[in-house]
Amino acid sequence: MRVLVTGGAGFIGSNLVDALVARGDQVRVLDNLSTGFRENLASAAGKIDFIEGDLRDAALVNAAARDMEVIFHEGAMPSVPRSVEDPLTSFEVNARGTFHVLEAARAAKVRRVVYAASSSAYGDTAVLPKVESMLQQPQSPYAADKVHGENLCRVYTRVHGLECVALRYFNVFGPRQRPDSAYAAVIPKFIAAALAGEPAHIHGDGRQSRDFTYVGDVVQANLLAASAKGAAGLVMNVGAGGRTDLLTLLECIGQYLGKKVAVVHGPDRAGDVRDSQADISLARAALGFDPRTSLEEGLGATVRWFKEHAAAGSRESGS
Ligand SMILES: NC(=O)c1ccc[n+]([C@@H]2O[C@H](COP(=O)([O-])OP(=O)(O)OC[C@H]3O[C@@H](n4cnc5c(N)ncnc54)[C@H](O)[C@@H]3O)[C@@H](O)[C@H]2O)c1
Repeated sequence: MRVLVTGGAGFIGSNLVDALVARGDQVRVLDNLSTGFRENLASAAGKIDFIEGDLRDAALVNAAARDMEVIFHEGAMPSVPRSVEDPLTSFEVNARGTFHVLEAARAAKVRRVVYAASSSAYGDTAVLPKVESMLQQPQSPYAADKVHGENLCRVYTRVHGLECVALRYFNVFGPRQRPDSAYAAVIPKFIAAALAGEPAHIHGDGRQSRDFTYVGDVVQANLLAASAKGAAGLVMNVGAGGRTDLLTLLECIGQYLGKKVAVVHGPDRAGDVRDSQADISLARAALGFDPRTSLEEGLGATVRWFKEHAAAGSRESGS
């Protein structure tokens, strides 16, 4: 299959690229390397067509979509706090960039677009698990822009017959997720702190909970969504279906590393939701999605990757 992965140099995108290359697809990546890295594509180098460019450039997105059968749209400015500080860039990249991708897909007669939507669409619901029939209640510019993208997906399926499937990811983690950005996700931050012998910083009391989902299972959902019959026009949750609070998560990471990790509590963070857990019945029924990686297995793989990566990093820096 000929496929385009936007954001393919990022954490989730590059894991997806590896799986697509492994199954023999012809893969093109469009990425501006703003939060992605060429080194994430090291194992795919020479086997893919890499375009360094911006989703905000409609002509370039059109060129990238030409001759493609499927587009996996992973590219985004994926951060709640950054979208609060810089809502215009969030809108331009996340909402308008998605519009460009859908227009390009329509013009190029792409068969299907699989869109990386977000569980942040739900906001703070009192009822768990979160199910797709609940109201969209975005609480941040990022969430609103991602909701705009999934609404566009629905509309392009209905109005233009372009097959779109939107996958609302729930707190994805795994190899290649970066710990070093101010906006980094909690698992790589905790692991990096623990490896460095530093305390972990937690916003609030640490009892807020998330449905941590291993990246391999998110890749599985994408591969299924590219061809599942009857999935066009649907927006669905992609999570592990469980819920773990941050203090328990930290304990689990400490067990893998054989040490107790100290905690420093700070104030709650604007735009964050309290609890999150996915009902994945729709993805199971519509895609045959079956998340197979337990939190423990996923954390084990992630901790191993961090240790190897840290070792490679220190060799490269000559220490
Ligand atoms: N990680 C999660 O838990 C999570 C949860 C819900 C949704 N998502 C969505 O999944 C997708 C991938 O997220 P990720 O966690 O891999 O983040 P990431 O930052 O690692 O990947 C995003 C990629 O998009 C690229 N990009 C950003 N702006 C761009 C632009 N203007 N033009 C071209 N490329 C651009 C970045 O360079 C990066 O490679 C995003 O759409 C995000 O909104 C992620």
